[in-house]
Amino acid sequence: MRPIRGLWLAQPWACDPHCPMMSEEETATPGDVLLTVDNLATHFRTPRGLLKAVDGVSFSLARGRTLGIVGESGSGKSVLSRSVMRLLPRRNVNSTGSVRFEGQELVGASEKVMRDAWGPRMAMVFQDPMTSLNPVMKIGTQITEGLRHHLKVDKAEAKLAARALLQSVGIPEPERRLAEYPHQLSGGMRQRIVIAIALACGPRLLLADEPTTALDVTVQAQILDLLADLQRDRDMAMVLVTHDLGVVANRTDDIAVMYAGKIVEKAPTETLFSSMKMPYTEALLNSIPRIENAPHTRLKVIGGRPPDLVNPPRGCSFAPRCAYAQPQCREEEPPLIKQDDGHEYACFFPVGSAAGAEALARNSTSPAATARGTN
Ligand SMILES: Nc1ncnc2c1ncn2[C@@H]1O[C@H](COP(=O)(O)OP(=O)(O)O)[C@@H](O)[C@H]1O
Ligand code: SF4
Ligand SMILES: [Mg+2]
Repeated sequence: MRPIRGLWLAQPWACDPHCPMMSEEETATPGDVLLTVDNLATHFRTPRGLLKAVDGVSFSLARGRTLGIVGESGSGKSVLSRSVMRLLPRRNVNSTGSVRFEGQELVGASEKVMRDAWGPRMAMVFQDPMTSLNPVMKIGTQITEGLRHHLKVDKAEAKLAARALLQSVGIPEPERRLAEYPHQLSGGMRQRIVIAIALACGPRLLLADEPTTALDVTVQAQILDLLADLQRDRDMAMVLVTHDLGVVANRTDDIAVMYAGKIVEKAPTETLFSSMKMPYTEALLNSIPRIENAPHTRLKVIGGRPPDLVNPPRGCSFAPRCAYAQPQCREEEPPLIKQDDGHEYACFFPVGSAAGAEALARNSTSPAATARGTN
């Protein structure tokens, strides 16, 4: 194994410790906090009014750990990921709060700071590889461009590294693939290329936004396994964003559940599945297929629609769809309760509590609930 100016041609992958882009605080020991997001809000000015896509989100992530962000379509997951990466539209957007990455504040950071951060420090994989690949540029050029820009290696070194990268993401015949265009590859191959590009400069944080949603189930599992392997080998932190609670079940250390621009529940993965508190999380879980279900079992879709983020309902934003909802939920917004075990949730009548059981029982006998179809 031979390093090219800090680029290892086989694992373990590492960035050059003498690279001028690495500051002292970036060489901290594993396990410490890499990313701290505090009260992050991203609002869009739209013709209908202010759309609160992300509304006061806080979480932190340590090196080498994986956080799953789960929620239905429209809950604000992509805007949150882009807000962390500072990849937001230039106009009609207001993003406030704090995103501290390796000790550096990114909210309000200049484009120059962000351009230096994208690639060597933090990278993102999007849902549709075709949107992040240039259709008229050869795969090889797309990979080597970033390497040459960020790591200041020459053409031959970059090509060698690109070949090694394709090998590390499981692409056979890398030499041939480097000379091809994106349309010549399958969807799974393209997503592997996008992952290779994202990992090219050895980022310490990878944000993967629905990285497998466009792929069939078998390829989905392969890509998720690949991400897990690469993450472990590089001690990289990862935020895995998905609408599917099943995807994050065995692949994350912690899970944050988003609804209407807010994190409504967050817990270590095992805790979330063994003692979830939010009726919304429970409803998400009931809406995914399970192996133990008999064939042709009907899934319980979550009734109703996510709220209009320009005019959200008063009180708890899940109340119009919640099987546990009580009058208090329609009046007051539930505060975020933080337990000592790291479990956080925002609910007046949590799943598994006596108050929750009473609320559910009350609704199951009420004519209004029957009419709503919530029981
Ligand atoms: N550029 C934008 N301008 C206005 N609204 C936007 C913009 N981007 C996203 N949104 C809105 O923000 C909300 C959250 O979107 P998004 O983060 O993409 O949801 P998710 O990724 O969870 O499906 C949606 O209501 C969406 O329509
Ligand atoms: S606060 Fe009320 S409406 Fe909101 S999730 Fe809890 S029970 Fe349901
Ligand atoms: Mg999205």
